[in-house]
Amino acid sequence: MDDAVGNRNGNADSELWVKARAHLVRYGGEFAPFIAARAQGSFMWDAEGRRILDFCSGQMSAIIGHSHPEIVEVVRRTVGELDHLYSTILSRPVVELAALLAKLAPGQLERVLLVSTGGGSNEAAIRMAKLASGRHEIVGLSRSWHGVTGGAASATYSSSRRGYGPVQAGSFVLPAPDPYRSPFIRADGIYDWRAELDFGFDLIDRQSTGALAACIAEPILSSGGVLEPPEGYMQALADKCRARGMLLILDEAQTGLGRTGHLFACERDGVTPEFLTLSKTLGAGLPLAAVLTTPEIEETCYERGFLFYTTHASDPLPAAVGLKVIEVVIRDKLTERARTLGEHLRAGLLALKQRHECIGDVRGRGLLVGLDLVKDRAARTPAPELAQRVARRCLELGMMTSVVRGGYGIFRIAPPITIARDEIDLAVDIFDRAIRDSVGKAQ
Ligand SMILES: Cc1ncc(COP(=O)(O)O)c(C=O)c1O
Repeated sequence: MDDAVGNRNGNADSELWVKARAHLVRYGGEFAPFIAARAQGSFMWDAEGRRILDFCSGQMSAIIGHSHPEIVEVVRRTVGELDHLYSTILSRPVVELAALLAKLAPGQLERVLLVSTGGGSNEAAIRMAKLASGRHEIVGLSRSWHGVTGGAASATYSSSRRGYGPVQAGSFVLPAPDPYRSPFIRADGIYDWRAELDFGFDLIDRQSTGALAACIAEPILSSGGVLEPPEGYMQALADKCRARGMLLILDEAQTGLGRTGHLFACERDGVTPEFLTLSKTLGAGLPLAAVLTTPEIEETCYERGFLFYTTHASDPLPAAVGLKVIEVVIRDKLTERARTLGEHLRAGLLALKQRHECIGDVRGRGLLVGLDLVKDRAARTPAPELAQRVARRCLELGMMTSVVRGGYGIFRIAPPITIARDEIDLAVDIFDRAIRDSVGKAQ
């Protein structure tokens, strides 16, 4: 190979790294130490032809695997027929995708706005919530990630907020539900999440100037460390919101479209929000995102002159991809598959927990799984350095993983939900070897 993506001098291609260092903004710390050349299904291949199991689905997005043949076909065909349009022009894929999402989503979430990124979808939902409610205060969970644009970043607490000046006025935080480390875990081991939620809302009520517009939450907090709210939590959160006239925005960027064993994770909780946002998995790796809301809210926003006019709002190409992704997920029963294979994966990781003292917790739902490494099981002290060593060793052994930010040692595991059973076994085996090789080693 000797082309734009392939192998000139393998991963060590000094010319490429020099160019990268000279011309790329480092938007999230260090880059991975290899050059990707190709990706297919659950695997990537580096510039030396080495196979790497992608246990993060790209950036938690390639839910039906890389370069799924039907997606490749749709992209090829659509880009040659109808690629991009002036934003007020409609086309069949956009309207059909909106109608399909409206049909599949819970409750009355029948009006759809298409955008390109998760941040954009949350930005739009927050703006609509403000316009419809006539209020401006937004509540987020303390380990959330909703994006890096103004409104979404103001409600994001799991990344550093330092260095960028004021966030949006009226940004309030609730304690994230963490069944493993919450200070509201009682001496008998029971997690008193109701007391935590009451405490959180008591603080919110004291801070509010009477303008609570919305609460935004992920049904499972992925970037925060795969924190799964206990059953009943989301309903109680929705009740607290309704009691205050607040709208609920559920961000299903990572949980949407089958990953957790439900098409939408909020279905498990029986909660229908006023806004549901989808991104990452909707385009399965291509930039597509959506905001779903009720006709009532959409009508109110329209009457009040809602403006969220973006360049790609009516693009047929990503919309056609979204239609195909949903078709594949439903036709191939991938939601059920995520549920069964998720159980298989957790069973494998729980077996590792028997062998490795440093595994404090294995959690998650479907194929969104958290593996929490600790220095001390009883104290549940996070082991961030060990997790980084394990992640590096996993990569050497042929698997890409993701460790969450923020001083924890938590692996966020989200493979494509098309993954094969033996590929999961391979991953568990790699984790086993990587942990064994990393424990007790200096950095
Ligand atoms: C739950 C959630 N919402 C929103 C976003 C932001 O999406 P994007 O990076 O596409 O703006 C992310 C990204 O990680 C996410 O995990």
